[in-house]
This record gives sequence, C-alpha cells and structure tokens, in this order.
Amino acid sequence: MRIAFIGAGRLALAFSQALARQGLEVVAVASRTRASAEKLAARVPGCVVMESQAAADAAELVFISVPDDAIAPAVAALRWRTGQAVVHCSGATEVAALAPAAAAGARIGGMHLMQTFADPEAALASLPGCTASIEAEEPLYAALSALAVRLGCVPMRLPPGARALYHGAGGFGSQFVNALLAEGVAVWKSFGADPAQAERSLLSLLKGTVASIERSGIAGSMAGPVSRGDIGTIRRHLEGFRRLEPSTFALYRTLCARTVRLAAQAGKLTPAQVQAFESLLAEDP
Ligand SMILES: NC(=O)c1ccc[n+]([C@@H]2O[C@H](COP(=O)([O-])OP(=O)(O)OC[C@H]3O[C@@H](n4cnc5c(N)ncnc54)[C@H](OP(=O)(O)O)[C@@H]3O)[C@@H](O)[C@H]2O)c1
Repeated sequence: MRIAFIGAGRLALAFSQALARQGLEVVAVASRTRASAEKLAARVPGCVVMESQAAADAAELVFISVPDDAIAPAVAALRWRTGQAVVHCSGATEVAALAPAAAAGARIGGMHLMQTFADPEAALASLPGCTASIEAEEPLYAALSALAVRLGCVPMRLPPGARALYHGAGGFGSQFVNALLAEGVAVWKSFGADPAQAERSLLSLLKGTVASIERSGIAGSMAGPVSRGDIGTIRRHLEGFRRLEPSTFALYRTLCARTVRLAAQAGKLTPAQVQAFESLLAEDP
C-alpha cells in the first residue's frame, strides 16, 4: 500500500519515518511550504515532494497531517477516488471533515496517536506503546489497526462523537502536567528559590511519581499528606496559598479534593478522615 502525507509538520516528520522504518512505502509528501516537504522527504527513503493533488493521486492511503482547522479546506480542495483511503491525524476533529473524499468514493477515517510530537526525534523514540485511536469503518479500521501494531502502538477504537472528550482528557497526561510544574516553580520563586533549581527538583519528583504510578497504579501509588491523613499539614498549605495568590489557592483546593477521593479509593483514609478533609476544603477562605 503506497502512503502519502499532506502536511509535513511535527507529526508527519516522526510518523512518516516510523512507517518507513517498518518497511512501509511512503511515496509522496506535499505541504504548504516546499522546504517543509523537502525536510521530510530527505528523511524517508523513496519519498518524493509533490503538489498536493499529485501526492493524493500517488497513494492508496493518504494521511492528512495539516493543522486541525486546515483539514476540511485541504480535503475539499482535492480530487479523490474510489478505493482510496483518506485519514486525518487529529484527535479532536470529526471524521466528517473528510466528507468530500467520502462523497468521491474514498474510505475515510481518523487515526490519532496519543503522544506529543513537539520534538520529532523524541516522538519517534516514544511511539512504541503509545495508543493509536482509530475511528473508521471496516475494512479501513482493520488496516489502520494493523499499521498501528506494526509501529508498536496499541490500537483503540474511538466511537463516533467521542473525540472532544477523548482529546481534551489527553491534556491531563500531557500539557496540564507542564502547567502544574509551572505552578510549582512559581510558588518556589515566591520564597526566593532559583527557578532552574525548582524545575529540576520538581522534575525529579515527577519522575519518581511516574515510576510509582507505573508500578502501583494511579490510586495505589498516592503519596503525600492526604494519603497519610495529615489534615494539619493540608490546613497549613491552604493558609500559605490563600495568602500567596487566590488562583493558586483555588487550584490547590480543587486538586487536593481530587486526591482525597483517590486516597479513599485506595483504602488509605477512613470515612471520618474523608469527611474531615472535605469539610476543610469546603471552608470559605
Ligand atoms: N503535534 C502533536 O503533538 C500532535 C499529536 C497528535 C496528533 N497531531 C495532529 O497532527 C496534525 C498535524 O499536527 P502538527 O503538530 O504536525 O502540526 P504542524 O507542526 O503545525 O504541521 C502542520 C503542517 O501542515 C502544513 N500545512 C498547513 N496548512 C496546509 C495546507 N492547507 N496544505 C498542505 N500543508 C499545510 C504546515 O505548513 P508548512 O508546509 O508551511 O510547514 C505544516 O508543515 C493535526 O491534526 C494535529 O492535531 C499532532
């Protein structure tokens, strides 16, 4: 099966190389800027830079890897044919954005890799084990699923209508972690700590947390004062954050309430302790 990419950005750069390394035929790439397409083609043996229509014509499977808002117009601007598969790589965009291709007889679908592609080299290394969420009808679902398995990814069927929640929730394992670390660094800066040292320190803590979650699960690996039932410590934290910054206080309170639920779920708190934490966290500041 000949494969083409339309859009040669961060995702396509890693994804196309991963496919080529598995012996799959990536024959064409098109992008808005020729230089982007050339950068990709230089890393994928046998891949040729073409105009978008020529790339679409050259392949049986075309990945649309342009930014989400550009998917529908890019697909509507091209001619498609029966028997061809047109697949976008977006998490949140509905497969219906590919409707013009379906109207021309092509099979359409979405294949989203739940991984971050900020750095294509790092992404290539972290593809094995990542979830490939696929929304397509058979036989395209089976074909994309087999492709995902060849890359070492874990295929998951995405039901129609689930994309906004599916993709939004991904933030909890990715960019919201960045936001949480930034919050921690800002708090340390407030008492004069060096931000670089704060970042290294919290990152080292995060690595330990991830390792422990891998071993014992999300609830089972819960550590910290809530899981010990140390209500006095949480009271001191709340007081500190209340004086520092209202938005940090609000964030801490919300997250802390979620950790009470998890600690209870892991059997680390008695019902009385849960109630005491909940009352404290509900107090009007
Ligand atoms: N980045 C991630 O972490 C990630 C993860 C999973 C899924 N995805 C999905 O993958 C898709 C691509 O994301 P990305 O991060 O790779 O974006 P990106 O780095 O911004 O790359 C998009 C590429 O498409 C080109 N392009 C823009 N409009 C075009 C058009 N009309 N026709 C042809 N090419 C066009 C861009 O322009 P130039 O040619 O000018 O460079 C660029 O090379 C999106 O649907 C995104 O949701 C991304």
